[in-house]
Amino acid sequence: MTIAFATCSLLPDGNDDVRALTAALAPLGIGAEPAVWDGDVDWSRYDLVVIRSTWDYTDRRDAFVAWAESLPHVLNPAGVVRWNTDKRYLRDLADAGLPVVPTLWDPDDIPSAWPEYVIKPAVSIGSRDTARWGAGEEDEARAHLRSLRDAGRTVMVQPYLSAVDTAGEKALVFCEGEYSHAARKAQILRAGAGIEGAVRDDPSRGHVTPSTATAAELDVAERALAAVPGGGRLLYARVDLIPGPDGTPLIIELELTEPSLFLGHAPAGAHRFAKALASRL
Ligand SMILES: Nc1ncnc2c1ncn2[C@@H]1O[C@H](COP(=O)(O)OP(=O)(O)OP(=O)(O)O)[C@@H](O)[C@H]1O
Ligand SMILES: [Mg+2]
Repeated sequence: MTIAFATCSLLPDGNDDVRALTAALAPLGIGAEPAVWDGDVDWSRYDLVVIRSTWDYTDRRDAFVAWAESLPHVLNPAGVVRWNTDKRYLRDLADAGLPVVPTLWDPDDIPSAWPEYVIKPAVSIGSRDTARWGAGEEDEARAHLRSLRDAGRTVMVQPYLSAVDTAGEKALVFCEGEYSHAARKAQILRAGAGIEGAVRDDPSRGHVTPSTATAAELDVAERALAAVPGGGRLLYARVDLIPGPDGTPLIIELELTEPSLFLGHAPAGAHRFAKALASRL
C-alpha cells in the first residue's frame, strides 16, 4: 500500500505536514511519498493520492481541478476540490446562514462604508495579490481592483477585520469530520504596504502557534462543514475564523484542498490522520 502526497515543484519533498504524516504511517506498514501534481508521475502506482502542498496552482486552477478529477482515488474528493478552490464558495456558506466575513463581489468601485478594507482575488493561496487599503490610498486601491478585473479574476472586497491584529486568526483542523486541534495565525497584512502587503521579512506576521477552539468557534466550524456540498465526512478540513466587530467568529476561509494542518504544533494530530488514512485504504 502506497500513498502519494501531492505537492508542487517548488516543494518536491513536501512540507512539514507531509514529513510528519509519512513518519506516522510507517509503523502502520503504509508507505508514502511526495509527488509533484503536475510532474511526470505515474499516478496508477498509488493506492491513494492525498492533496497536500500543491501551492502553485492559482493561475492554473482549471488544470489543477482536471488533474484531481483524472485520479481514481484522491482525497479530498475532486468535486470538493472544484468547489473549494474558488472562494465564491463563501457565498454558498452565507446563503446557508453561516457567518461569513462581509464581502462585495466584483464591485464597480472601492467601498465607502469601511475605513479599512481588503481587496483580494477569489482564487488565491498565501495572500497573493491581496492587500489592505485605507484612507488616502484610493488611487492605488482602485488600480488594484482594476488590475484583478482586467486579468479576468473574481474580485473580493471585505472590511479589514481589525481583531486579527490582537486575537489573530484561528484555524480549526478536522480529521474525518471530528475536531482535531487548533492553531492561531498572527495577522499578515501591513497597513500602507500595498500589494506586497504580506510582508515576508517580518517573522511575526503570519506566525503560527498552538491554540484551542472556543465553543462558539467549534459551533461555526461544524456548521460550515455540514454545509459543504457533497462533503460527507472529509479526510481533512480547516476552518479559518476571525472575530467580527462584536467578537463573534466569522468565516474567512474553509480550506478543504491544500491547507497546512499544523501537525508540527499538534503531535497527536499526525497519528490521528495516519490512522484515518489507514482505514481509508
Ligand atoms: N477581511 C480581512 N480582514 C483582516 N485580515 C484579512 C482579511 N482578509 C484577509 N486577511 C489577511 O490576509 C490573509 C490571507 O487572506 P486569505 O486567507 O483570505 O487568502 P489566501 O490567499 O487564501 O491566504 P492563505 O493561503 O495564506 O490562507 C489572512 O490570513 C489574514 O491575515
Ligand atoms: Mg487564509
